[in-house]
Amino acid sequence: MKEKKILLTGANGQIGTALTKALREIHGTENVIATDITEPKHKNEPFDFIDILNKVRLKEYIGDYKITQIYHLAAILSASGELNPQKTWEVNMTGFLSILDIAVELKLDKIFFPSTIAVYGPTTLRLNTPQHVSLEPGTVYGISKVAGELWCNYYFKKYGLDSRSVRYPGIIGWQSIPQGGTTDYAVEMFHAAINGEKYECFLKADTKLPMMYMPDAIRATTELMEAEKDNIRVRTSYNLSAMSFSPSELVDEIRKHYPRFELTYKPDHRQEIASSWSESIDDSSARADWDWDPEYDISKMTEDMINNLT
Ligand code: NAD
Ligand code: SER
Repeated sequence: MKEKKILLTGANGQIGTALTKALREIHGTENVIATDITEPKHKNEPFDFIDILNKVRLKEYIGDYKITQIYHLAAILSASGELNPQKTWEVNMTGFLSILDIAVELKLDKIFFPSTIAVYGPTTLRLNTPQHVSLEPGTVYGISKVAGELWCNYYFKKYGLDSRSVRYPGIIGWQSIPQGGTTDYAVEMFHAAINGEKYECFLKADTKLPMMYMPDAIRATTELMEAEKDNIRVRTSYNLSAMSFSPSELVDEIRKHYPRFELTYKPDHRQEIASSWSESIDDSSARADWDWDPEYDISKMTEDMINNLT
């Protein structure tokens, strides 16, 4: 059997930090190379600095290290993206097109593309959002991810590239503090509660969004990538769901452990983004095609977050 040699882009980010560790446990440390443009916060060997906008170096590197699979995490997220739309399009789209081209030219086995709930928009059915639905997002981040999903489908149909993708909900994990996203408040709230600090939430109390605990996100990713090729019937990106909650519902959970946790609400520009996204997701295609089944609800996640952070 051909040996797997995996490359992650954007590996120092919130998901990359946890996914690199999980993939190394499955495939062996030396077979999983982490890359990013920032310095790793923790020991992360094998690691290299790779800017996905440098296509020449990217291609040479992938060829030299005989990479067979890429998990392409590098991106600029929803809230940061609105501060610099051109740059966000360049990183999220031009960078991804380079990955797709190189994957075809060097005959890679598979690639993973993380999409997001940011692909939904004001015209999307907000409750139990179906797999196939109107996608008219209002952020440049969302636009770049819709385009990315469509390119995945195009490269699969035209070149047979085995690209696989999920629309991650907002991801919550203890491994790192997220930055630049609209769902970041959830992780920030845990840190504030544990440190005995007050928290000022940038979304309204009743803004309900789809969320997922990191172990479920990692398992969804690895299970999708290991699934039989013929079972993957969605070649844009799979809806993915675990739980939905609002800031006030999360506060109620956290107060079961920290009854004195204090919080105020001061919605900012991120409220408009959050209000345009879905509240809950129908992920029956993922469940049917590759047996997706989440493990964590809000209570189990809260308990585990607090255990790990303390
Ligand atoms: P993150 O912002 O924490 O990490 C992104 C990483 O990409 C950063 O480490 C950054 O340095 C790197 N990067 C940026 N520009 C780069 C470039 N030019 N070349 C190489 N690296 C570059 O993001 P994350 O939360 O870990 O998300 C990972 C992926 O998952 C992204 O594609 C994101 O769109 C998607 N996603 C995340 C969430 C979430 O809640 N975290 C939800 C849905 C989808
Ligand atoms: N968590 C991400 C964000 O808020 C969703 O992709 O941008």
